[in-house]
Amino acid sequence: MSSTITTAIILLLFITLINIPNSQSQSPKFPCQPPHHNSYPFCNTALPIPTRAQSLLSLLSLSEKIKRLSNNDTGIPRLGIPPYEWWSESLHGIASNGPGVTFETGPIPAATGFPQVILTTSSFNRTLWFSIASVIAVEARAMYNVGQAGLTFWAPTINIFRDPRWGRGQETPGEDPMVVSAYSVEYVRGFQGEKTTEGRNRYQDTKRKGRRRVLSGADDNHGGDGGGDELMVSACCKHFSAYDLEFWGNYARYNFNAIVTEQDMQDTYEPPFRSCIQKAKASCLMCSYNAVNGIPACADKKLLQKARTEWGFKGYITSDCDAVATIYEYQNYTKSPEDAVAIALKAGTDINCGTYMLIHTKSAVEKGKVKEEEIDKALLNLFKVQLRLGLYDGDLIKGKYGKFGPQDVCTSNHKNLALEAAKQGIVLLKNDNNFLPLKKNLVSSLAVIGPMANATSKLGGGYIGVPCSPKSIIDGFKKYIKKTSHSSGCVDVACASNSKFPEAISISKEAEFVIIVAGIDLSQETEDHDRFSLLLPGYQSALITTIAAISKKPIVLVLTGGGPLDVSFAQGDPRIATIIWVGYPGEGGGAALAQIVFGDHNPGGKLPVTWYPQSFTSVAMNDMHMRPNLSHNYPGRTYRFYTGPTVYKFGHGLSYSNYTYNILSPPTKSILHVFNSQKTNILQQTITGSSNYLYVDKIQQHCDSLRFPIQISITNHGPFDGSTVVMLFAQVPKGFEQGAPLKQLVEFERVHTLSYLDTNLRILVDPCKHLSIVDEFGKMILPLGDHTLLLDDLHHIVSIAM
Ligand SMILES: *[C@@H]1O[C@H](CO)[C@@H](O)[C@H](O)[C@H]1NC(C)=O
Ligand SMILES: *[C@@H]1O[C@H](CO)[C@@H](O)[C@H](O)[C@H]1NC(C)=O
Ligand SMILES: *[C@@H]1O[C@H](CO)[C@@H](O)[C@H](O)[C@H]1NC(C)=O
Ligand SMILES: *[C@@H]1O[C@H](CO)[C@@H](O)[C@H](O)[C@H]1NC(C)=O
Ligand SMILES: *[C@@H]1O[C@H](CO)[C@@H](O)[C@H](O)[C@H]1NC(C)=O
Ligand SMILES: *[C@@H]1O[C@H](CO)[C@@H](O)[C@H](O)[C@H]1NC(C)=O
Repeated sequence: MSSTITTAIILLLFITLINIPNSQSQSPKFPCQPPHHNSYPFCNTALPIPTRAQSLLSLLSLSEKIKRLSNNDTGIPRLGIPPYEWWSESLHGIASNGPGVTFETGPIPAATGFPQVILTTSSFNRTLWFSIASVIAVEARAMYNVGQAGLTFWAPTINIFRDPRWGRGQETPGEDPMVVSAYSVEYVRGFQGEKTTEGRNRYQDTKRKGRRRVLSGADDNHGGDGGGDELMVSACCKHFSAYDLEFWGNYARYNFNAIVTEQDMQDTYEPPFRSCIQKAKASCLMCSYNAVNGIPACADKKLLQKARTEWGFKGYITSDCDAVATIYEYQNYTKSPEDAVAIALKAGTDINCGTYMLIHTKSAVEKGKVKEEEIDKALLNLFKVQLRLGLYDGDLIKGKYGKFGPQDVCTSNHKNLALEAAKQGIVLLKNDNNFLPLKKNLVSSLAVIGPMANATSKLGGGYIGVPCSPKSIIDGFKKYIKKTSHSSGCVDVACASNSKFPEAISISKEAEFVIIVAGIDLSQETEDHDRFSLLLPGYQSALITTIAAISKKPIVLVLTGGGPLDVSFAQGDPRIATIIWVGYPGEGGGAALAQIVFGDHNPGGKLPVTWYPQSFTSVAMNDMHMRPNLSHNYPGRTYRFYTGPTVYKFGHGLSYSNYTYNILSPPTKSILHVFNSQKTNILQQTITGSSNYLYVDKIQQHCDSLRFPIQISITNHGPFDGSTVVMLFAQVPKGFEQGAPLKQLVEFERVHTLSYLDTNLRILVDPCKHLSIVDEFGKMILPLGDHTLLLDDLHHIVSIAM
């Protein structure tokens, strides 16, 4: 072979090689490509979005329209429109659950694996939540550009973590409606491409300028006329509504009928969805499998239309997967499949995840159950979101987000953020006598015991993709201590036998310090799988107490999993010096835990859910009441209403520093007058019913003047700098306790503090929003009288008078 030929072959090979990513980056074929398919009006970026959507619709036959009603849109070749898969997932990183995402083919083999949402929430850091979503959006666009993902993602999960047994509680931002709302706003804004976090202060400034009044609906120019409504990627608030049960006893999510009072609906189940749509402007809403008070969510016109008419929703509504089929097949709500399709479309479901509408819409039209205009209405909602994503703007690689590619996925910045999220979220539950941090230079050897110690991808929890650099908890410790040994102690997390105890015992006896990594994984809690017990599975607690009894020093117990665990056996055991909850900490979790154990990071996370004792499992999981009912020993749910004992309370979380608080102003007791003297006329008009409370919707114009700042100082008494989460709660005046929350969160803020110094924080209290409660008819009322603000163990009276 002559050298020229060899060179030519090598050159050819080289060209072929460097061409691989190139040719693949062209693999998604976009609509509106020249020379044949760019002259339709729907491709004309100069026209308003509704006009373009209408233009596309006008070109379609009925059967072409029906084909658009499934997540798997097979495209319209005659118009140059390629297939589009609506279903991609991105809960805490690009995930493989939906068919829109693939890691198997294409130049991007992995994406950043952030902690599961419940752990990220524990940071109580809005900036972090926003940053994570922004990073996921970049990776999403990068994957879309090379044909490995869609542009429409079905996250976040913003149902309330109502019952500790719920298999998907891990996916949520916890049990408090205000926290879940705040999380949803940051996630959706970050993901859809907003540049700044909503934050605590920014929202207040916005309101002060009067640009947006509380609870006003579709005030922004958004999604309607093609201005200011661009989407980087589309987020979806799910699952609407009152969905939080998988499979428990005779109850399955597919046929469950959630009986919800108007009061619970208004102050617990609905607020996250209202915020997700009204404040964050999410472009998708997913209706859930379950029925709410007898009507399957995807068939509930009143429920779905509320989002459009009251909250200004301008996106598309998708059913959960096969949730149109379940209207007929599991809920038995209609007499035929066609009726199920008809009622879903009429209610406002725009697209069906699954094939049910593909199969049954034609005959539903033929039987006169569905009108073509009803399909048109749905398609316009779908097309408008696609247009806002730029899908019909021509070659997207030349577009604004076209530059993102493999070089923007799994970057060191992104992986650092995943590590940062785990560090900020991890919760120190117990730390007797400042047992931690360990002094890294003085530790000779470690034993890391337990079934989760060597897990890698399992550290992601539910809805994961392929992490960039999966590492185990052992990997994290080995970076600090060379002499780190391991025994799983149990065959797996279920730990059905103690056969591996002898090995774990002998390894633990050798080591100076022992760390046990126990808890739960997806074999215990996941989609379609609720727990029946809150105890550690199988022989796990026996393993822990056995090792604690023979180790040289007290041990460190690390707990994995999203749902609360009853570890009361360990709380009082002096041989178990420390308990740390790591949730599902993602790909940075091993490193984050080791940094905390060895004092390179001062933990500051707090629990976003109540940890109930095992006795709570006698409560019927299908009982949706939030409020206690002592007539049948029903203890109520979440810190706002639960009256029974706890293992750890909502908001519990220690640090290596001690913090104390002071309220600097206002003075001990302050009085706010709703009406000044000139406004007595208004007073006459606005008071309805009992005179010791006011309806918030009737005093809207006074709400701004009632707001007042509260100045707090936080003293860090410890030898470490650290971030701590400040939580300000409120309690109703005497006489209003019946049906009111025991306390409710007014505001939270993660604050960075320096060792032995004071840090000040200002929180703006908005009485209409923060001190009001919902009455039994679902109306927001502001009680008059002495409200109590609670900050740690400080009590502060704010009196509201007319
Ligand atoms: C989408 O539909 C096409 C045509 O029916 C089919 O070949 C393909 O497998 C479907 N894709 C998925 C993910 O179901
Ligand atoms: C619903 O109908 C199915 C048959 O389609 C039947 O098996 C099931 O028992 C029914 N469920 C209820 C709750 O009536
Ligand atoms: C951890 O698991 C991997 C396989 O997943 C195995 O190769 C390795 O030996 C295990 N490490 C220890 C310390 O057991
Ligand atoms: C409490 O439970 C009883 C018995 O189930 C019921 O009759 C009553 O209406 C409930 N009270 C409230 C306030 O929900
Ligand atoms: C924090 O306070 C507790 C209880 O008062 C005390 O035992 C502990 O030593 C303190 N820790 C630090 C770091 O000051
Ligand atoms: C909140 O998170 C951001 C992003 O990781 C970080 O820069 C900031 O320091 C965190 N704030 C506190 C108070 O910990």
